[in-house]
Amino acid sequence: MQRPHILQVGPYPAWDEEPLNEAFTVHRYFAAADKQAFLAGIGSQVRGIATRGELGANRAMIEACPSLEVVSVYGVGFDAVDLAACRERGVRVTNTPDVLTNDVADLGIAMMLCLSRGMIGAERWVRDGSWAAKGLYPLKRRVWGRRAGVLGLGRIGYEVAKRLAGFDMDIAYSDVAQKDFAPDWTFVADPVELARRSDFLFVTLAASAATRHIVNKDVLAALGEDGMLINISRASNIDEYALLDALEAKVLGTAALDVFEGEPKLNPRFLTLDNVLLQPHHASGTIETRKAMGKLVRDNLAAHFAGQPLLTPVL
Ligand code: 8YV
Repeated sequence: MQRPHILQVGPYPAWDEEPLNEAFTVHRYFAAADKQAFLAGIGSQVRGIATRGELGANRAMIEACPSLEVVSVYGVGFDAVDLAACRERGVRVTNTPDVLTNDVADLGIAMMLCLSRGMIGAERWVRDGSWAAKGLYPLKRRVWGRRAGVLGLGRIGYEVAKRLAGFDMDIAYSDVAQKDFAPDWTFVADPVELARRSDFLFVTLAASAATRHIVNKDVLAALGEDGMLINISRASNIDEYALLDALEAKVLGTAALDVFEGEPKLNPRFLTLDNVLLQPHHASGTIETRKAMGKLVRDNLAAHFAGQPLLTPVL
């Protein structure tokens, strides 16, 4: 049987490239110099797209592949896939939920601890001789026992809150409705109110048009000069200009960010700030999780082309 043709939008680790190439005829979009000409040449053969969370598949790409049947996303977030274009064409969409939840939650907690305890500066203090020359490192802020807010109590938000409970924190959350699986945590419907009662505010919402800039100027001001914002979701959930203004004016204390508008080319204003922790969108970036994500991407494609139910369907 002829191997189905798929369009690979971005690179995967070597352990994924090999099995992908065995099962499918793979067209490497990211390696093409002239992407438009490349798509015009091979688009009509493409029956599947294998992409990554932050790369997705836009309408132009979907329309350039008239035989497209399925888009398989390496990531839980599918906000970069044009779902309307997929729906119009009956194209199925899959993602990789669950397998990455715990690692994403772990990185959120690590970012909170790292920034609150000043670990990046402390490392520098040792390496540049400041410890020997100047003595004790400046005092930082405690984490345990303080107030945490979780904006979006989905799979990742739930795992973040569970971990925060281990630090004896006072935990509240916002979501579209109160969750009956979270009786020990306070439900606060309004994100501004949630921010007001939080020292640490975690953004763990699945991004969509409805959540765009849900963290706005008012939320940031309510979090305040002693507050920390931690984003392990998508940049679009935050008004990034308002965030930069708030950090520069010290209206907001600190921010720990794994995601940025236009990443990997982030706004250079971030680089001049000393009250941010900047991470290269790697919350799911462990060998274990990325192997599981790659397998799920391929298993969804294989299920589709074998006429079997999709493992983790979005559409
Ligand atoms: C990326 C992600 O897919 O799960 C998501 O939505 O954004 C990530 O897991 C990952 O960085 C690989 O590109």
